[in-house]
Amino acid sequence: MTHNPLLLLLFDSSGRSSELAKALQGKALPLVILRSEAEARRWLETNQCQAILLAVSSLQPHGVFLAELQEAASQSAILVAASAPSVNDAVAALQAGAVDYIEAPVSESRLDEALDKAGVSRLLPPAGQSQAKTRKGCAAIIGTSSAMRQVFSLINKVCDAETTVLVRGESGTGKELIAQALHYEGVRGTGPFVPVNCGAIPGELLESELFGHEKGAFTHAIRTRLGRFELANGGTVFLDEISEMSPMLQVKLLRVLQEKEFERIGGTKTISSDFRVVAATNRDLEQEVEAGRFREDLYYRLNVIPIEAPPLRERRQDIPLLVEHFVARFNRLRKKKIKGVSDEVMARLARYAWPGNVRELENMLERMVILAGGDVLSVADLPERLLEAGAAPVERLEALPEQGFFLNEVLSDFEKRLILQALEQTDWVKNRAAKLLNVNRTTLIEKMKRFKLVSSSAEA
Ligand SMILES: Nc1ncnc2c1ncn2[C@@H]1O[C@H](COP(=O)(O)OP(=O)(O)O)[C@@H](O)[C@H]1O
Ligand SMILES: [Mg+2]
Repeated sequence: MTHNPLLLLLFDSSGRSSELAKALQGKALPLVILRSEAEARRWLETNQCQAILLAVSSLQPHGVFLAELQEAASQSAILVAASAPSVNDAVAALQAGAVDYIEAPVSESRLDEALDKAGVSRLLPPAGQSQAKTRKGCAAIIGTSSAMRQVFSLINKVCDAETTVLVRGESGTGKELIAQALHYEGVRGTGPFVPVNCGAIPGELLESELFGHEKGAFTHAIRTRLGRFELANGGTVFLDEISEMSPMLQVKLLRVLQEKEFERIGGTKTISSDFRVVAATNRDLEQEVEAGRFREDLYYRLNVIPIEAPPLRERRQDIPLLVEHFVARFNRLRKKKIKGVSDEVMARLARYAWPGNVRELENMLERMVILAGGDVLSVADLPERLLEAGAAPVERLEALPEQGFFLNEVLSDFEKRLILQALEQTDWVKNRAAKLLNVNRTTLIEKMKRFKLVSSSAEA
């Protein structure tokens, strides 16, 4: 099988990496092994892969190559395995965009976890259904807030239905997890789950990615290649960032949704495949339709059942659970024994606006666990942006008004309201209000004058 292989790059001379190669070969994965940077460059010129596992002794001498890989194989998930691991390398790898950094010796379960993160497990023969359910179903989604309970209840209602589902929500809110839960909790759960990121794959490639192509269909079509729709037979196709699809592909997609039949690029044979579609978007699709960028008929076809993934700032009560979940997970992955976070850290996490939602929280905790000084994460471990005083009460706006707005006016109005709130909260004791706002008393008095703020009881 030549589809979506896992590319294993062995640049490690310690001998450890051959154990890794053996472990991978035992998994019946479509695996390609290369042993030098030059070989890897050449292979990537004409091939694509789901994931790249870079096995090195230490990352340092390969830093430039890793950055190059990010560019050359932007659709592949990159894993780094190091036989001489270090904290610096771990941080550098994650900063460069690697999805995981694995330290030797690598246990079987640790390797599986990394492959899972890289989306490789779907290339493996299907595991028992019960296992799939507990690992990828609703159980993988953390949250007990009413907003999340609503999501779970919708998933349970529609997972067995064949209807198309549109998962909506900001980036990092767990849309892909919801799509996976719909698949693994449902009757198709033993079939393949096939994700396609319509935003990450350039237009021309996306078409052949979805529909496949016949040998010779275009210059680089060296062999026949099955598309994702075909690979998803018996399972679910997850079309992520659906709003990014070109108008030409939108037409083709509509036809596939209606007929479940299509041709490979350059082919004449009609292929039929039995798959369910779950799509996701972080855009306002109605607005895209209005602006003429998204087909209305396709919109109705996809939006049969919408599921809303709530932003983290609207379900702050889930933050402690998520923190506990991620700390436990990164303890396991990073071989650490962090007990938790201090009360003050928890208070700050609970107040922060989380523009990047759960993904931001997850990434932040991963770095904190790796870099932690003590066994409880303290304020000193928090990144700068969480310490900025202003970060606390400011919420991200859904969208800025199309016609524009006056930044200075909005800011000064906001400033006035915050000062008023601080004064009310401190019974108009200026010393305390100034302390709460972290400004000088004289500055506060000046601002009160400017905004004509006086206590109504003082007036009386
Ligand atoms: N409710 C949740 N519980 C646990 N992990 C979550 C939750 N929501 C999101 N995540 C994690 O956050 C990251 C982003 O989630 P993802 O589904 O890719 O978001 P989206 O597709 O909406 O951008 C993933 O690593 C995912 O595992
Ligand atoms: Mg996503």
